[in-house]
Amino acid sequence: MIRHKLVALLLLSGALAFNSVDAFADAPDSTYLFSYASTKNAGRNGLHFAWSTDGKQWNEIGPEYRFVGCDYGPWGAEKRMLAPYLTKTADGLWHCVWSLNEKEGRLAHAASADLVNWKRQSYPKVMEEGNCLYPEISYNQATKEFLLSWLIATATNDTAIFSTTTRDFITYTPTKKAIAAIRMNNRASLALAGGSVTGVITKVAKSEADRLKDARDLNDYRQQKYDERTESDAVRFAGLQPVEATITVDKKESKTISDLLVGVFFEDINYAADGGLYAELIQNRDFEYDLSDTQGRDRSWNSKKAWSLKGENATFTIDTVTPIHPNNPHYAVLSVKEKNDAGLENSGYDGIVLKKGESYDVSVFARQLEGKKGKLLVRLTGKSGAVYGESQLLTLSSNWKQYKSVVKANADATDASLVVIPQEVGTVALDMISLFPQKTFKNHPNGLRTDLAETLAAMHPRFVRFPGGCVAHGSGLENMYRWKNTIGPLESRKPQPNLWGYHQTAGLGYFEYFQFCEDIGAEPLPVLAAGVPCQNSHEGQQGGIPMCDMGDYVQEVLDLIEWANGDAKSTWGKKRAEAGHPKPFNLKYVGVGNEDLISDIFEERFEMLFKAVKEKHPEITVVGTVGPFYEGTDYEEGWDIASRLGVPMVDEHYYVSPGWMIYNQDYYDKYDRSKSKVYLGEYAAHLPGRPNNLETALAEALYLTSVERNGDVVSMASYAPLLAKEGHTQWNPDLIYFNNSEVKPTVDYYVQKLYGQNAGDTYLTSQIKLSNNKEQVKNRIAVSVVQDSKSGDVIVKLVNMLPVSVKSTLNLEGLVSESSTVTKTLLTGSPADKKLQPQVSEIKITANFDYEMPGYSFTVFRISNKL
Ligand code: AHR
Repeated sequence: MIRHKLVALLLLSGALAFNSVDAFADAPDSTYLFSYASTKNAGRNGLHFAWSTDGKQWNEIGPEYRFVGCDYGPWGAEKRMLAPYLTKTADGLWHCVWSLNEKEGRLAHAASADLVNWKRQSYPKVMEEGNCLYPEISYNQATKEFLLSWLIATATNDTAIFSTTTRDFITYTPTKKAIAAIRMNNRASLALAGGSVTGVITKVAKSEADRLKDARDLNDYRQQKYDERTESDAVRFAGLQPVEATITVDKKESKTISDLLVGVFFEDINYAADGGLYAELIQNRDFEYDLSDTQGRDRSWNSKKAWSLKGENATFTIDTVTPIHPNNPHYAVLSVKEKNDAGLENSGYDGIVLKKGESYDVSVFARQLEGKKGKLLVRLTGKSGAVYGESQLLTLSSNWKQYKSVVKANADATDASLVVIPQEVGTVALDMISLFPQKTFKNHPNGLRTDLAETLAAMHPRFVRFPGGCVAHGSGLENMYRWKNTIGPLESRKPQPNLWGYHQTAGLGYFEYFQFCEDIGAEPLPVLAAGVPCQNSHEGQQGGIPMCDMGDYVQEVLDLIEWANGDAKSTWGKKRAEAGHPKPFNLKYVGVGNEDLISDIFEERFEMLFKAVKEKHPEITVVGTVGPFYEGTDYEEGWDIASRLGVPMVDEHYYVSPGWMIYNQDYYDKYDRSKSKVYLGEYAAHLPGRPNNLETALAEALYLTSVERNGDVVSMASYAPLLAKEGHTQWNPDLIYFNNSEVKPTVDYYVQKLYGQNAGDTYLTSQIKLSNNKEQVKNRIAVSVVQDSKSGDVIVKLVNMLPVSVKSTLNLEGLVSESSTVTKTLLTGSPADKKLQPQVSEIKITANFDYEMPGYSFTVFRISNKL
C-alpha cells in the first residue's frame, strides 16, 4: 500500500529522473550528454551518445558507434533497442531501460558504472503482450527502489516498482494514467549529422564524455589492426627486407603444461552427424522428419522425405496408430496391389555410396497388415536400373518384428538407392529401415564412417567435446539435447529437430560418442545445457527449466556420470553394460552450459548444477561457460560467477579475424593463474567471405604458439566447427569438408593436426631477438618449444606470417646432439591458397643451426629422443 502511494507521488514528479541527474554533474567542468538509439537497421544498432558543451552544437560519438547492444531475441530478426532511457543513481551507477519490440510486453534493463562496460541485461515482462514504449526509470533513495514507467498507448502509461538487485518487479499495479505528455517531456529530439533522433539529455562531468570518446577511439584503433589482412601486405610491408632472428631455448626455464591441449569439438551442424560421421546410409529411416525440423522453411520436409514409391499399382502413406515405440511414432504403410516389383525407395543422403565387394547390414522393422504374409526383398539399385545387390528378409508376421540381412555390393556406386519390395500383394507397415556398412571405424555396428573418423583420429585429439554447441542447449526448452533420449535400442531413441534446420536421429548418441573417444584415446567432454536453451534460438530466450523441475534435471546430469562411470550393476551403469560396455568409460569432465547469455535465470540453474556435481562427484571437473566473445558482458559476468563458485574450468569462445590473433598473443599471458582454468572450446580465424586458406591457418598456428605458452592456464582448445557436408553447410569456415565419398581437410586442419601430433607436456621458454622490432613485424613471428615427456622429443614450432623470409639462428644447446635426427614439417604457400598440405622431410641439425623460415610459413621440427 505504501509502495502504491509512492508510485503515485513519483509519477507526479515526472521530471524527477532528469533533474536528479543534474545533481551528479561535476559543474563547472561539465558537458551535456545525449543518449539515443538510432532508428537505422530497425533499431538494432544499440545505444549511442552525442555530447555538447552548450546544448546546441552536438557531436556524435559515432558514426553509429554502439556502447551497448540489446541481447534479447533470436539470431537475425530481433535484438532491438527502442527508445532507451538513461539515468544515474546516487551510487554512481547508470541505468538504461528500453523497449524491445511491439508485441511482447517486455522491457529491458542494464546497468553500467562507466557507460562503456555493461552488466547483464534483464527483460522483465510488464504486460501480458503488446507495446510498452518509452520506458523511464527513476530512483527512490529512501526505499532504494526504482520506479519504472512506460507508455502503453499515446494517452496512457503504466508503472511498476523495479528492483535492480533481483532485476525483477517488486510490485506492478496497472494504473494506466493519462500522463503521456509528462513522460515525453523527458526526451529531446535533435538533428545530428547522422539524422534526426530522439533521446535523453543528461548533464555529466566532462571526463565522463571524454571516456566515451576514448573508448570509441580505442576501439577504432584496435579494429584497424584487427582488420589487417594479407591482401594489403604488399603495401604494408613494401620494402621490407628479410628479417633476422636469433632464437634461444632455455632448457632450465620450463613449466608443465596441459597434456590435453589440442582436441576436437564435434557438433551436429552442417550434417556432421546424420549424413556425415554416423555411417547410416538411409535418410529418414524412421519416418520422423517433420516440417518443424526446418523451422517451417522447407514444405517438402515431412515424414516422406527421401522416400518415394517405385513401380505401379502401389500406395505409400504414413501412419501413427501402432508405432514400434512411442518415441518413434511415424511409420510407413505400403500397399501393393499386384506383384510387379513395386516398392518403397530411399535415395539416401544425396544418393547412397557403395563399394564393390563390401557388405552392408540391412535392418527393417515390419509387420503385415493385410494380405498374404510374404517376404520383403531389399534391393540396391542405380539410376540406370543397375542392381548392385539384393537380399530377401524372412516372411513377415502380423506383429512388429525386426528383420535383418546382409547385401554385398557388386559394383562401386555413388548414386544408389535402396528399395524395399513386398513379395506378396497386400499391405505392410515399415519402420527403421536401415542400411549400414559393415566396415565402420573399428568395425562397430551402428558405428562411424571410416574415412571421416580416421581423419579425426589422425589429429590425435586429446579430448572430444560433444554434442554441440548450440545443439547442446537447443532451440527452446523442448529442444534441449537430453542424453537419455540418445541411448538404448535405436527404435527407442528420441529423434528431434536440429537447431541448425534439419533432423537429428540420435543414432549417433552418447554411447557412440563415448565409444569413439575410447577408440581414439581421447577424453570425453559431454556438454549439457545449464537448464537454459540457446539464447539466440527462436524460442525460449527467457526460458529456463522451471525451478520445480530443476531437481529432476540435476538428477539427469548426475545420472550421466553414473551411466559413464558407475558399476555395471548400478541403475545407469547397467544400461551402459547392456549396450556392450561393462567397463566404465572413465569420464572426467562435464561441460555445463554453452556460451549462454549470463542472466539471473542462467546463474540460478548453473549454480544448482555445479554444486550438485561438485558435492556428489568431486572427482569430476565441471567446465562452466563465459559467453560467446573474448570480452563483454557475458564474458565478465561468466568469469565472476566462475570465480565466486570456484568453477575449475570455463569454456571460452571466440571467432575472430586473423588480425585479432596477430595482436592478441598476450591474451592469456595476462590471466590470473589462481582462477579457473580455460577451455578454449570454440575458435577460428574468420576472413570476409569466410574462406579457409593459408592466411586463416597461419593466424591460428601463430595464436596457438601463445596458447601452448599458456598451457598452464589453458587446459584444452578446439577449433570450431569441425565437419561440414558440401551442399548442407550452415556455417563456414569448418575444419573438414566432405561429401558422400570424399574427405577434404582444409589447410586449417593441417595446423590442428600438426599441433595434435606434436603436443608436449612441458613448455621450454625461448627468447627471440629480431632485427626489426616494429609491432607489425614482430607480432607476425612466433615460436613455441615443448617437450613430450613420454618420448622425450622436443618440438619446435615456428610461424612466420610476414611476406618475407625470416633468417633465423636456432640455439638449442642441451637439446640437440650432433646425431639428432629431426623431422621437419613445412606448411607454406600463398595466403589465399586453399589446397595446401604440409611437406615432411628428415634432416640433421646441430645445437646451433640456421633456418630460413619462408614467408607465410609454419614449420615444425620434431627432435627425437635426445635428452
Ligand atoms: O560452432 C558453431 C556454433 O558457434 C556453436 O554451435 C555455438 O556454440 C557457437 O555460437
